[in-house]
Amino acid sequence: MTGLAGRVAVVTGAARGIGRGIAEALAAEGASMVVADVDAEGAERVAEALAGAGVQALGVPVDVGVEVDARRLAETTLDAFGRVDVLVNNAGVASSSPLIETTLDEWNRVLAVDLTGVFLCSRAVAPTMIAQGSGVIVNVGSQLGLRGAPNLAAYCAAKAGVHGLTKALARELAPHGIRVNAVAPGPVDTEILVDVDAETMAGILAEIPLGRVAQVEEIAPIVALLASEGGTYFTGSVVNVSGGHVM
Ligand SMILES: NC(=O)c1ccc[n+]([C@@H]2O[C@H](COP(=O)([O-])OP(=O)(O)OC[C@H]3O[C@@H](n4cnc5c(N)ncnc54)[C@H](O)[C@@H]3O)[C@@H](O)[C@H]2O)c1
Repeated sequence: MTGLAGRVAVVTGAARGIGRGIAEALAAEGASMVVADVDAEGAERVAEALAGAGVQALGVPVDVGVEVDARRLAETTLDAFGRVDVLVNNAGVASSSPLIETTLDEWNRVLAVDLTGVFLCSRAVAPTMIAQGSGVIVNVGSQLGLRGAPNLAAYCAAKAGVHGLTKALARELAPHGIRVNAVAPGPVDTEILVDVDAETMAGILAEIPLGRVAQVEEIAPIVALLASEGGTYFTGSVVNVSGGHVM
């Protein structure tokens, strides 16, 4: 990895969890950071912590599933830093219910954040990246988008959609010098897992050859690699980081 000095990176859902870890990893590589999250205070806190460590960082409130928010995120980044080199579409929500109890509202909410948000934010930064003739988009998918899971229809569909969108954009944007990849993590130790009951978690762990969930520090460096000079021959990849859950 040769670093991201002088580069500008936007990470959505960066107020906590995997997104925060990714923001810290990209900042450690030298990138100026836009910390975007629907949790405005959380985004500000992470931006302040990065700034305290000497990183140029800006917290931006955004609901990635809202078109005007995604546009504003791109504009705010350009106003502050003059370019966009990296977009990490990490913001996501999970919702668990059997198919027959899944309401259309719940389905639409998950799809809006987890899939439409990736489309909207990518579309918002693409004109700048095309004009620059360079850029990297990394999407956070999921191994559940590869293997499926009961009671998670909307989440699995959205994440499978993210993987398909990744490949479509990789082909479309490659002629403009833009690479597009995804990571597909297995279960990661963040707040998104707090609603998973002990029995379900035991069943999940029994199916993972490494026998444990991942830590954020085991996912963020993979995103940093894809975003940096070390990852220049990756495009259209969905990188499986699942402890062997999917193979
Ligand atoms: N933790 C896991 O087991 C796991 C596994 C595979 C993939 N993922 C994916 O990783 C990503 C990060 O998840 P996490 O585990 O860190 O979860 P998390 O709940 O800890 O963090 C998610 C972040 O996204 C933000 N967010 C939610 N909705 C948003 C919106 N509409 N606009 C902007 N920000 C929004 C939240 O405020 C939060 O800061 C998600 O896309 C998730 O689906 C997580």
